[in-house]
Amino acid sequence: MARLDVTETFHHISFPGHIHTQDSLKCALHFQFQDSDTVIATYPKSGTTWMQEIVTLVKNRGDPQLSKTVPNWARAPWLEQHYSAKVLEATQGHRIITTHLPYNLLASALQGSKAKVIYVARNPKDVVVSYYHFHKMAKFLPEPNSFDEFLGSFLEGSVSYGSWFDHVKGWTSQTGVLANVLYISYEEMWLDLQGSMERISSFLQCPLVGEELTNSLRHCSFSSMRDNAMVNYTLIPKEIMDHSKGKFMRKGKIGDWRNTFTEEQIGLFDTVYSYQMQDCPLTFMWECPPESCGGGGGGQASGDQDRALSSNT
Ligand code: A3P
Repeated sequence: MARLDVTETFHHISFPGHIHTQDSLKCALHFQFQDSDTVIATYPKSGTTWMQEIVTLVKNRGDPQLSKTVPNWARAPWLEQHYSAKVLEATQGHRIITTHLPYNLLASALQGSKAKVIYVARNPKDVVVSYYHFHKMAKFLPEPNSFDEFLGSFLEGSVSYGSWFDHVKGWTSQTGVLANVLYISYEEMWLDLQGSMERISSFLQCPLVGEELTNSLRHCSFSSMRDNAMVNYTLIPKEIMDHSKGKFMRKGKIGDWRNTFTEEQIGLFDTVYSYQMQDCPLTFMWECPPESCGGGGGGQASGDQDRALSSNT
């Protein structure tokens, strides 16, 4: 299935036709979740692969055998992608299921299920920079042209997988609606991986002790994942992901958006952000200590938008 130039539009959202079909998208909406499923939900570039690795390691008590031998898309398939039905049918025991779909599309399939849902969000300024670079290497996504142009499309929600704002608002407003949901941010994971791992493992009712925890932490570090062909996408042929145009495991930093955004782009972004998030009932605590933002350009945290995203749940 090549279809590199095909875009599927489904419920007004664009999806790359290389990995999605109308049928695969429709099937996702009627998926039968099991109570033993773990669902990782993210907007692209928010730490999806990282969470797939963490959940795999937690479920295997720090044993990296599976994460070093089975590609992430086979052990934690994307529900909406065309190959997932086959993979999930063949999976025995506890399933790890990934999705980039917005909550409203999965609401009826998920409600009533006791599947454990982990929603990962990331500072949208870092998301858009990461997504821009990903568009340059992923041949199944449209050419992004300039960053300015891409930023405009991101802010209006016309990029693949739709609006970041709708995605985050949709998923983070489900406290009390979904039976089991954990909200966590990329920034929390970055600033305190051990604490995040403990939180995730306890949510999954699989608390790790001693070496189980230290092994898990080691194998999901940026450097370990960068060198692991099962997660760094180097197994994907060049015609589909051109690694000469960039790396999937690119920088893995927080606050690095400062090296890309101009003052004008920051102003535009902040205006759209304030407008879009004004009706969001959650309190977001975005506090990015300047010393850990690693972003050059003075590295000084500046104002409300310069904060790590985390929910208060
Ligand atoms: P950058 O492009 O900013 O480097 P996704 O898996 O949702 O597509 O997200 C990819 C982003 O997560 C990339 O961000 C990638 O480097 C980062 N990432 C993946 N694993 C990571 C890890 N172990 N630590 C920090 N960042 C990680």
